[in-house]
Amino acid sequence: MNYIRYGSQTIDKSDIKSVSKCLTSNFLTTGPEIIKFEKNFSKYTGSKYALACSNGTAALHIAFLSIGLKKNDNVILPAINFIAAANMSNLIGAKIFFADVDEISGQMTPKTLLECLKKNKIKKIKAFCTMHHGGMPNNAREFYKIKKKLKCYLIEDSCHALGGMYSKKKKEYVGNCKYADISTFSFHPVKSITTGEGGMLVTNKKNLIERARLLRNHGMYKKNLKQKNNWFYQIKSIGFNYRMNEIQASLGISQLKKLNKFIKQRNYVAIKYKSLFKMYDFINQLSESNNDLKSAWHLFIINFNFKSLKISKDEFIQKLHKKKIGVQVHYIPNNIQPLYSKNKFKLTGARKYFENSLSIPIYPNLKINEINKVANSIIKLIIKYKKKNH
Ligand SMILES: Cc1ncc(COP(=O)(O)O)c(C=O)c1O
Repeated sequence: MNYIRYGSQTIDKSDIKSVSKCLTSNFLTTGPEIIKFEKNFSKYTGSKYALACSNGTAALHIAFLSIGLKKNDNVILPAINFIAAANMSNLIGAKIFFADVDEISGQMTPKTLLECLKKNKIKKIKAFCTMHHGGMPNNAREFYKIKKKLKCYLIEDSCHALGGMYSKKKKEYVGNCKYADISTFSFHPVKSITTGEGGMLVTNKKNLIERARLLRNHGMYKKNLKQKNNWFYQIKSIGFNYRMNEIQASLGISQLKKLNKFIKQRNYVAIKYKSLFKMYDFINQLSESNNDLKSAWHLFIINFNFKSLKISKDEFIQKLHKKKIGVQVHYIPNNIQPLYSKNKFKLTGARKYFENSLSIPIYPNLKINEINKVANSIIKLIIKYKKKNH
């Protein structure tokens, strides 16, 4: 059996066909494929507007600038997240406060968000950012209520959750921007769909998409976009080259068609793992907090007490690696990273989550014998160390 990676892209002939067609077309960037990908993405998520970007980090950077985040503005971010949201708001000069997370799910909760405000004696925040860790869009409605109360912006870092739903009954897809001002996505190869590198910003607000569009392309404004030989432009703001190219968009279009199938396959892997781990009550698993919520199953995170097993997480990971099983850590808490560790408060939920959690392989094409091998190897290792310590 080959090495089992913790995450992987799923590429088939239709993707290759779509990209090949693009490569022999007239446009390699800023052409019809971008417009089509954005339109299809809006339709899928249920958002009014979508803006394709070079990657998810760029989408977050543009999101923070579009809401007018500036130097010394306060922002609250979850301690457990990929570093992009922290680094992008840091780059703008905002004051970052990290909120603690639930020790099993690794997610900021309405309670830990409010505690962060209180402990840090923050009177006003410009924005807070949620992150649907592992693909679970928890607490979106409650976060929306807090946003309304605090009169601030809510940005969703939805990079894990494309294809997930806030409500199955109401068909509310992550990224519909009913609860958040802006939602951002990444198309890195391990995500729900891929464009190699790539990202998307979605919103329902016209003023935000107009600002975001300027920021994506050097602050450059052209009046009559549909007019041919339209040479006249004005620079209206600072900006970047955060554009996605046509090759990426052509892959995105064909991947998006298969998104629901991919999520079904990920869900199948999750169901199999859950049934294999069911008998072992020392293994906690991340699962949907209610029946109406739908996870995108970007990650399958298990959680058990390494300390009581008397094995370090690193040793455990190395042992699985020797069995040709790749696992990952999502994430080291951002508040203990050297760049951000001035934070006064210890975040016990984030610490415990980090100590005990492990992301195990999940992706659409993971085979049943691979799922069995991963689960059985983990169970055997834990039982071996449990016995050793008795
Ligand atoms: C939660 C989260 N936010 C942001 C990003 C950044 O996306 P990208 O790698 O496309 O820049 C990632 C990607 O790894 C992510 O997982």
